[in-house]
Amino acid sequence: MDSFELNKVMGAILGTLLFTLALNIVSGGIFASHAPHKAGYEIVAKDDKGGQQQAAVEPQIPLENLLNEANPEKGASIARQCVACHDFTKGGPNKVGPNLYGVVNRDSASHEGFNYSNAMKAKKAKWTFEAIDKFLENPSKVVPGTSMTFLGLRKATDRAAVIAYLNKQADAPAPLPKPVAVNATPDAQKKDGDKKDAEKKDAPKQKDAEKKDAPAPAEKKEMPAEKKDAPAPAEKKDAPAKQ
Ligand code: HEC
Repeated sequence: MDSFELNKVMGAILGTLLFTLALNIVSGGIFASHAPHKAGYEIVAKDDKGGQQQAAVEPQIPLENLLNEANPEKGASIARQCVACHDFTKGGPNKVGPNLYGVVNRDSASHEGFNYSNAMKAKKAKWTFEAIDKFLENPSKVVPGTSMTFLGLRKATDRAAVIAYLNKQADAPAPLPKPVAVNATPDAQKKDGDKKDAEKKDAPKQKDAEKKDAPAPAEKKEMPAEKKDAPAPAEKKDAPAKQ
């Protein structure tokens, strides 16, 4: 074998190796396996409230707050679902449903010239923000036998937007209710209060301890200030009513 032939053999071997390497790189790119972002399967558990998952996921924000944050323009676009049956303009006609101009704080079943169902006539309520909110969530559940065959708006934010819009369709829009403090469930507040009471009792002991130069935890020094922050008794009484 002369050196020329040897060169050919070596060249062939090198070429094959290069080809294999290139193939490896290319196939690696094509068949790359990515690790999942989250390990395992996501399990969506059904809650026991008849599968109203959307409602369960939604944070429980009070209607007062939702109304204050609501965008009436968004409400107007959601209210397109109503216009097949309702007119919102002043002096506008009754359609399948009654004219809704000025419906906020109007007595139920009170619009002139509309033939309400017996169920609605029997309701005898005022269409407050809250009453409309409940009604719109599930009309036939709130007024069984109503002739409003509308499934309802399940999202609280959608209802609030529609109500904010409805409120504007009036000679004198009703003032929006004041927003309430969130996360102030009566239970949590009470527990908090109890804890603070207990801490108060401990406080004098800590002073003694400090005098003796015992290393008092930094947290304890903040105690007197916290006492002043404890919810006033009046606030506690209010909390259950708000719910
Ligand atoms: C399929 C037709 C239909 C749709 C859609 C509909 N409604 Fe109604 N609505 C009615 C009817 C009919 C009544 C009267 C109910 C009765 O007498 O029982 C009514 C009654 C009402 C009332 C009570 C009015 C009063 O004078 O007592 C309100 C408030 C109301 N609708 C709001 C809405 C809103 C807001 C929407 C849209 C999100 C909507 N409705 C969608 C048909 C409809």
